[in-house]
Amino acid sequence: MISSGGVATKPGPNNPFSLTADRAYRAWRDRKLERAPTAVEQLMVELRDPACPDAAEQAALAERLDRANMVIYRFGPGAGHGKSLIRRFGRRLGLERLDNNLCADEDRITTLRVVAERRTGEYIPYTNQRLNWHTDGYYNRPQEQVRGVILHCVRPAREGGENAFMDHEIAYILLRDENPDYVRALMAGDAMTIPANVQGGVEIRPEQGGPVFSIDGDGHLHMRYSARARNIVWKDDPDTRAAADFLLNLFQADSPYIFRHRLEAGQGVVSNNVLHCRTQFSHDSDAGRLLYRARYFDRASTAGSNG
Ligand SMILES: [Fe+2]
Repeated sequence: MISSGGVATKPGPNNPFSLTADRAYRAWRDRKLERAPTAVEQLMVELRDPACPDAAEQAALAERLDRANMVIYRFGPGAGHGKSLIRRFGRRLGLERLDNNLCADEDRITTLRVVAERRTGEYIPYTNQRLNWHTDGYYNRPQEQVRGVILHCVRPAREGGENAFMDHEIAYILLRDENPDYVRALMAGDAMTIPANVQGGVEIRPEQGGPVFSIDGDGHLHMRYSARARNIVWKDDPDTRAAADFLLNLFQADSPYIFRHRLEAGQGVVSNNVLHCRTQFSHDSDAGRLLYRARYFDRASTAGSNG
């Protein structure tokens, strides 16, 4: 079933992400940690024909997404790279409704490469600089949250450009186990505010406040987050500050829950918008790093993909 990707609602009484559902949380948490991958290789799946994965490939994709909210795939030789193939592959995972962000191409899939001059040049994804931990679209309006993402590598950088990923549900567990008040603070509707994006005196995106953690209409956990120090305004309250610090420390420590991988040509990641970051990379003006990114309002799901 394709997720509705609805806006945040009040969690049901047995939703594990609800702070009042301790028993449901414990059961879900124990199973989640028991099944959590312990090495990045466990996230990988080979796909002979991405437009039409066979039953075994489909099951492998589903298993990774279920356990870790992410899967690292490799397209088979000769499968190609085109955006239309990414689009078709996404559809097999229930990813249909694309976010039309400021910098997306006309087909709504963004080409990520270093851009010297253009409006996009000032956004970090279009430079070769390090990119701090975040989830995608954290500045989006509440009704346009990014639930699913495909990041596909056409050409890696000569050096660098390694990604790291952490399942946002694991981040939730670590916070809640440390102090449920941290989760409570981060679920507040005014926990994290992104100031308006104003360029040349023109507001291209209004200020956007919202929670870090929310529960969508289907009961799934959603996270909007950026570790950037600039252009993020945290609610000025002790629990919120402590929770934000806890997250920062989490990313700085070596964690068994952080998976690092440098995408090769033909590889990519499908995720339910998990936390991620990227190291700096070398830039060649002719044949530099080139990735496609598709952001969806839907979560990735293999159930019900029937053709
Ligand atoms: Fe991102």
